[in-house]
Amino acid sequence: MTKEIDGYISDLPQGCITETDIYTDRGVLLCPRMTIMDSKMLEALSQYKGRIHVIVSFTPSEAHDDDTPEVDNSVTFEDSFKKYAEESLAAIYANVDDVDNLTAGVKEIGNEVFSIIDDSKELFINLSKLKISDEYTYKHSVDVGTMAAVLAKALGESRRFVHDVTISGLLHDVGKEKIPPEVINKPARLTPEEFDIIKTHPVHGYRLLMNSRDITEDMRQGILNHHENIDGTGYPRGLLGDEIGKMGQILSIVDVYDALVTKRSYKDAKTPGQAIEIMFTMSNKFNMEYFKAFLSVINAFPNGSEVLLSSGEKAVVMRQNKSYPLRPVIKLLHNGQIVNLASDPSFLSTVILNFANPIQ
Ligand SMILES: [Fe+2]
Repeated sequence: MTKEIDGYISDLPQGCITETDIYTDRGVLLCPRMTIMDSKMLEALSQYKGRIHVIVSFTPSEAHDDDTPEVDNSVTFEDSFKKYAEESLAAIYANVDDVDNLTAGVKEIGNEVFSIIDDSKELFINLSKLKISDEYTYKHSVDVGTMAAVLAKALGESRRFVHDVTISGLLHDVGKEKIPPEVINKPARLTPEEFDIIKTHPVHGYRLLMNSRDITEDMRQGILNHHENIDGTGYPRGLLGDEIGKMGQILSIVDVYDALVTKRSYKDAKTPGQAIEIMFTMSNKFNMEYFKAFLSVINAFPNGSEVLLSSGEKAVVMRQNKSYPLRPVIKLLHNGQIVNLASDPSFLSTVILNFANPIQ
């Protein structure tokens, strides 16, 4: 689209292309037509304070100069649901050997999670609105179930599959209840021997649910395979690629992400941005198609949040760039400039370091 500007240099939308020459009010050529107005060009031209008259073209997305960040369309759990899920899980997990009670309780929570996700059109994962608990216990299974459902929906899976992967996610670590508490709760890094014991938890989970009529074999396989890696380096069986199955591949991605952003007794929680960077270095372990879809639903820096840039500037996140969760469209706070971190050539080396207010 084109726009006629009769005003000042500051009225030029960043990223536009001049369709006519720009002259100063004394008739001196300031800028020829077909100039791309990136941030460097705009800064150079900003020396000129007089009026200009020019026609520019721009794509609507680059001209998006609305002052209000887009709505953060993330899965949001009400506090009442979080409380209910937490209490209900505590009761269920107190005796996992009562398998019928376990699966009935988990299905009840899973159905609630599924209906929230099933009713929503486009969903993002913003952990601050989702997390039931900061603790890395059975409570984190709700995060895993929810994220698995969002990812499965983004992949275009059937409603039945989305439902089943939610339940599978809620139960993925149930086998940890069979690991001695002194190993599970050890407030330090595990020895290789202890890690070998931990590695049996997917098998314990599978075995526990083996005779349950509520849990399908696909769901059990998801639980059994949630620590398998595409490149064969996972456990318990070291499966390769498609041997792992869709459910296991989905659970593996969301479980790694959730483990990274959750505080443990021996390590601090990573920010969503740090977690994604780490996951990029491990991407040979994931199904790439699923990992890309995961990146498209992750809101590392949700709309409306204030962030700190590597340049030292602060900005507010305006909207997401799908597939580039670390490079959204932002507005610089000191001058109101809108910058698309995924495409603006002047900002290629600029990264978001963290939230300006770490409580977010
Ligand atoms: Fe696990």
